Amino acid sequence: MGQVYAAILAGGSGTRMGNPDKPKQFWMMADKPVIVHTVQKFCMVDEFKKIIVLPPESWTVQTSDIVDRYLAPFADRIAVVAGGAERNDTIMNAIAYIEREYGLADDDVIVTHDAVRPFVSLRIIEENIEAARNFGACDTVIPATDTIVHSVDGKLIADIPVRSEYYQGQTPQSFNARRLKALFEELDVGDKAQLTDACKILVLKGEPVALVQGDVSNMKLTYTNDMRIARAMIEGEVLDA
Ligand code: CTP
Repeated sequence: MGQVYAAILAGGSGTRMGNPDKPKQFWMMADKPVIVHTVQKFCMVDEFKKIIVLPPESWTVQTSDIVDRYLAPFADRIAVVAGGAERNDTIMNAIAYIEREYGLADDDVIVTHDAVRPFVSLRIIEENIEAARNFGACDTVIPATDTIVHSVDGKLIADIPVRSEYYQGQTPQSFNARRLKALFEELDVGDKAQLTDACKILVLKGEPVALVQGDVSNMKLTYTNDMRIARAMIEGEVLDA
């Protein structure tokens, strides 16, 4: 069976969080940075041969320091590699690292995850590994709860699709690493620039992508309000009815 690698995508600058000097993945959440919470989840899964953490190039030194400070027991399983200009470039940097360090076998799997989704569960990670092995690719999703409204011009409704057929995408997204790389390289520059989602690389090519059941708590930290909610969640705030 192929090797399994994790890529923790931390190459963004968090502009919507409003502090471009310090990307949100480095903000503190309780006693440690967000990215440490996320990487720790992956350290709990023995299958990973390497957990590749990909910050912006200018943050690689700080990220290595964070690994030494907070993740020392796992440091030999973690590599810090510079991310890329777009999210998919960051994923490709992870695959290039694997290729360089270990060679890329036909059945190697890469589990890609947003550094800013610290509440991912071990169940979700394990199911990703299994689905990527069985189907070649998978996406983590939750059923859409709000009605989806389709508008082309942002002024009038074009359609209201059947909600039960719609899901919200989360991460991880996991792939046969060699296949993902090959399909990405087939895309032209225009396609590549438009694609923010790695699963869409396969969808565009008509390749199957399996669904893994996500969780509402596997939220992405996008806006400052998300950070407030996350900090409350991590403090274990119990909500009574
Ligand atoms: N990401 C990445 N490499 C990039 C861009 C984004 O690894 N070139 C990562 C982010 O660090 C984040 C995840 O992809 O963990 C999800 O992206 P998003 O929430 O959009 O993050 P940012 O791009 O940082 O946020 P914003 O769009 O507000 O600037």
